[in-house]
Amino acid sequence: MIFEQWMRTVLERVEQALERYLPPTSTAPARLHDAMRYAVLGGGKRVRPLLCHAAGELTAARTESLEAAAAALEMVHVYSLVHDDMPCMDDDALRRGKPTVHVKYDEAMALLVGDALQSQAFVALTEGAALAPIQQAALTRELALAIGSIGMAGGQAIDLASVGQQLTRDQLETMHRMKTGALLRASVRMGALAGETPDANTLSALDAYAAAVGLAFQVVDDILDATSDSATLGKTAGKDAKDGKPTYVSIIGLDASRALAAQLRSDAHAALAPFGARAQRLAELADLVVNRVS
Ligand code: IPE
Ligand code: IPE
Ligand code: MG
Ligand code: MG
Ligand code: MG
Repeated sequence: MIFEQWMRTVLERVEQALERYLPPTSTAPARLHDAMRYAVLGGGKRVRPLLCHAAGELTAARTESLEAAAAALEMVHVYSLVHDDMPCMDDDALRRGKPTVHVKYDEAMALLVGDALQSQAFVALTEGAALAPIQQAALTRELALAIGSIGMAGGQAIDLASVGQQLTRDQLETMHRMKTGALLRASVRMGALAGETPDANTLSALDAYAAAVGLAFQVVDDILDATSDSATLGKTAGKDAKDGKPTYVSIIGLDASRALAAQLRSDAHAALAPFGARAQRLAELADLVVNRVS
């Protein structure tokens, strides 16, 4: 199967699973459920669900298990975007080509959408028999650790505290690995853990791959913010410089950022060597993350 075809199949499955795991608007409170669905459905590249599915193929995970894990990852990711866009954080009006949740609804609703999506992610992981109880516990812990104060939320705290500051390259890398890398890393690990228990070597090779892809993802996000336009990105371009955010572009420059993204892509490929052709999807996803234009 060619990559595009594989992607289409997975994306369709992801969309259906999200639809299933989100409460319907016919359930009260209708406005909250409407806003949750507005934020999640019909937009976004779904990179985390794709990584989760690709990693799960290596451990023969069942489709149903991967759907639950991928839906959880995407709901958490969207929660992070909704909060990231709020006036108290990045204050953005455009996301995925549409008005942000706090603009379309209101700030309180954006706060609650994020809260409820985070919660719903853990419902998805622990509902029914999609995952065995032991996997539910493992995946719940992976996700919780990735998005808490030593992961995504901690990275976001450093990001906000760093506005107008000159971070060292090491500090910048730590911030990026936490705010964005941790959830991407969890996407790969959760996909693998949703199948037959991976041995330590498998998990550590996947982890090395995911760490490289996770950092590359935010390096490219920084590059695109500086070089693309809002229509292509579906979010406001040029915002990092305007807000005085330390980014790879502001700290090492555009050319070095591009070189770093290319280096991380080859690190990701190298980490997959033990799997040979079985890791083709993961290799293709590393390329997608680095070569993307939005
Ligand atoms: C944007 O993530 C926020 C970051 C973590 C850099 P994505 O680029 O994955 O956003 P969507 O999901 O495609 O909208
Ligand atoms: C967002 O980083 C990271 C999280 C949402 C956790 P950015 O602030 O750079 O993301 P964009 O550029 O607004 O999508
Ligand atoms: Mg931000
Ligand atoms: Mg932002
Ligand atoms: Mg950004």
